[in-house]
Amino acid sequence: MMIYAGRSLLTCFYLIVFWASASQVISSRSARTIADLERGPPKGNYGVGHHGFPAEVKLYEEEILEDKNSAWKRLLGRNKVGRWMGFAPVIRVKEVETRHVVDLLGGIAKVGEYYTRVEIGGQQVRLQIDTGSSTMALPMAECDRCLPGDQRYDIKLSKSGVARWISCADERCERNACRAHKCKRCSAHDACCADENPSACGFSLRYGDGSGARGALMVDTMTWGRNGNGSKAVSAPIVFGGILHDSKDFQRSSVDGILGMAYETLACNPSCVEPPFQQMVKAKKVRDRFEVCVSSEGGKLILGERDPSMTTSEMKFVPLALSDPPTYYSVNISSTMYINERSINLPNFQHAIIDSGTTLIVVSKTVFLEILNHLMNHFCHIPDLCRGSKTWFKPASCVHISDDILKQLPVFKFVVGEGRDKMDLEVRPEDYMIKYHKSEKDYRCVGFMAMDKLGKGTDIIMGNTLMQRYVTFYDRENNRMGFAISKGDCGGRSGMCASYTQCQECASDNQCSYDFQTELCGTKHSGITLLPYPTCSGKSCLCKLGGFVGPFFGVICGLITAVVIGILLITCSLFYRRKEKIRGDAYNRQDDSMIQEELLRTPNGVTEDS
Ligand SMILES: *[C@@H]1O[C@H](CO)[C@@H](O)[C@H](O)[C@H]1NC(C)=O
Repeated sequence: MMIYAGRSLLTCFYLIVFWASASQVISSRSARTIADLERGPPKGNYGVGHHGFPAEVKLYEEEILEDKNSAWKRLLGRNKVGRWMGFAPVIRVKEVETRHVVDLLGGIAKVGEYYTRVEIGGQQVRLQIDTGSSTMALPMAECDRCLPGDQRYDIKLSKSGVARWISCADERCERNACRAHKCKRCSAHDACCADENPSACGFSLRYGDGSGARGALMVDTMTWGRNGNGSKAVSAPIVFGGILHDSKDFQRSSVDGILGMAYETLACNPSCVEPPFQQMVKAKKVRDRFEVCVSSEGGKLILGERDPSMTTSEMKFVPLALSDPPTYYSVNISSTMYINERSINLPNFQHAIIDSGTTLIVVSKTVFLEILNHLMNHFCHIPDLCRGSKTWFKPASCVHISDDILKQLPVFKFVVGEGRDKMDLEVRPEDYMIKYHKSEKDYRCVGFMAMDKLGKGTDIIMGNTLMQRYVTFYDRENNRMGFAISKGDCGGRSGMCASYTQCQECASDNQCSYDFQTELCGTKHSGITLLPYPTCSGKSCLCKLGGFVGPFFGVICGLITAVVIGILLITCSLFYRRKEKIRGDAYNRQDDSMIQEELLRTPNGVTEDS
């Protein structure tokens, strides 16, 4: 009887374990779709022509210009950063009427750009937020030569019901685009058709360095922002470029694609597509203005409104000096700039553009040399600043200097706007000397870049170096640009955990815990790292195993318990038998042999009752 009871208990136990693990496998299947997209390392900077943080910098140390290119490349480049810090971008939306908060991840020295996550047809992709371009493009599942770390979008997996390629014959695939742009495949009405998908409307992107990407236009629903409990924010069907072919150098760091926020004119590649924000404004989903705050930790993009809690000063407005038709967010800049209180004259200075897709402050080589000359005339008391040609004040050069010396460097002041709308934009040494930590040492890297040729009509690109100091408000409704001094943390990290949507990101932040069952990231309330399944925190998350880890441990645990119980039962039954045997020996030897025979005759699971 004992053996019977033991066996059925075991069977029952196996059944429970099997059922438990089977149900886990089923429930983890939905999670796996997302995990697949997450797989693989991110890549290098997004198009060199896009003025990212230099992939190569020099560390200036004790008069030796040390070339640590490879170290930088490793740090900023291909794979490590994203993996270590799990920057995937984050979208979180506060339900404040017309204000939609989109958290940005990234940072100047971390990745050289700011990006966020959007959902396209229910699939998540990480897109750089770029106020200096207007195209939205992301890698498609079938992309040829897109790097393996991309989270790709698969039209076949779209849940929206509206996903489709835009045909070459569609009126959105503009007539005569072919003739003007010399694309290879032309439709009957001279529209440009995609090389990789000849029935679809083609698009191509090209950067200054010759790198680029091409593909076809398509439509799907884009959802921007979501809050901790997963409710969706701004959502509308939009047209965007699906990348089917990357050039060799068209690389991105931990982002998959780009989301341009500038004017429509820049989004003709060659067919003109309205930028996604504009499409959403047209669909009356959001007001035609947005605000960008970036900090060393990440930032926020606020759609439709502004958030005064991120700034310490009143916002000042400068009229946008838009070209006709409008392209970039451009303002007039005075030809006089100030270094501390001394003025220097830059006769060519006229237009500045505000560009979140550019990491540093970019000026022409001539302007950079003017600034450097001025420094060498007035700031030679700063160590190693004036050593002939060996000054460390060079673009992309990093130096090991103390905070005291840092403070002796001057404040740069640019004057934007005109007349009554004039305002000063200041960058302090702590702003333009960007913190960089390497081999236990703190460096500061010169946050200026000098270029031979800037875009036509642009004399300075105010990138993230300046934007970390000033929160920028793109008031497209009133053709003006607002600047206010940033508090520095863009509203702080509160709610940061809830904004992470994937296990990797959540696990990279020690203050958060991830729940495999609900797939939500929350604030960790205890100091313990090893949390019980389905929650986890930090390294113990084993995100790569994803939903697999639950059933895996479930089965192992079940098996171990089953074996332990089995052994216990067998031991018990043997003990019981032995006792019976001893008793039997004492009273009746015949009974004993009968019991033994009985036991031998009873095959697996067949009971004495039968
Ligand atoms: C910018 O400067 C140009 C040339 O001086 C001038 O014509 C234009 O009106 C200015 N625009 C704004 C918005 O101030």
